[in-house]
Amino acid sequence: MIRELRAWARTHTERNRYSPVGIAFHWVMAFLVLFQLGWGYYTSWLPPGGDKLFSYQVHSAVGLPVLLLAIARFGWRLMIPGPVNDADKQGWQTQIAYAMHYVFYAAFFGLPLSGWAMWSSVAEPGPLYLAGFIPWPQMPFGAMPLELRWQILHGAETVHQWLVITLLLVIPLHVGAALKHHFWDRHDVLEGMLPEIPDAEDPRAAPQHSPREPKIPPEKAPG
Ligand code: HEM
Ligand code: HEM
Repeated sequence: MIRELRAWARTHTERNRYSPVGIAFHWVMAFLVLFQLGWGYYTSWLPPGGDKLFSYQVHSAVGLPVLLLAIARFGWRLMIPGPVNDADKQGWQTQIAYAMHYVFYAAFFGLPLSGWAMWSSVAEPGPLYLAGFIPWPQMPFGAMPLELRWQILHGAETVHQWLVITLLLVIPLHVGAALKHHFWDRHDVLEGMLPEIPDAEDPRAAPQHSPREPKIPPEKAPG
């Protein structure tokens, strides 16, 4: 099974492209994380009350799937190596790009886990729902002394805030690097992360079957 998946992914990575699964993971998670950054800040500015609580419920409902996607994506990435693009042969720049990937993965796990820990440590935990409708358990902090729960809350809050700040620094670098490689260096790296749209004028994209021969009625056939 893994061998077949690798062989299938190689048909894409050999052409310097991420596989469609890798591309789907990238753009779905990029969208969710960007939404969460905006929504999290919007929520933090709301005055205390029902609207704020509802807004945090939306924040947790959208953020918890990031944890499940992170587990699936990490597993996928361990099994299926990415392509080697022009930009991957650039020494220190490549090392920085790889380091950023580790930071992203740390945030994909750390943000939902610290958020989940915050919810679970408050005195009367509100219900958590994955994607808004699938019940999600609390972490088992209920029986712990109140002081310890406060410490967990503050620790998790600090982790959440630092990961947010880190993302705010790293995402512009990552996006800027992707655009620079595409427009300035004319590297193929951004194309490799975009969904493939067949080019009708490219002979390699021509349909594999030959067109049907026109049927000529026998009486009109020449000779
Ligand atoms: C990709 C995932 C996530 C991102 C990017 C994200 C981002 C943010 C941001 C920007 C804020 C406001 C600034 C701050 O207080 O740090 C915030 C606050 C918060 N988030 Fe998240 N979050 C994510 C996942 C989650 C999840 C899954 C939960 C809960 C299960 C959660 C619970 C909270 C809570 C409780 C706060 C308020 C923190 C406070 O009072 O300081 N977050 N988040
Ligand atoms: C418009 C925004 C974005 C563009 C144009 C973009 C572009 C790219 C490109 C071209 C790559 C492949 C090159 C490389 O390996 O660095 C890549 C990989 C990656 N990007 Fe982005 N990106 C964007 C947003 C994001 C965001 C918001 C996140 C995280 C929150 C993210 C996380 C990642 C990760 C983790 C990889 C490594 C892929 C893997 O192997 O799993 N990207 N991105």
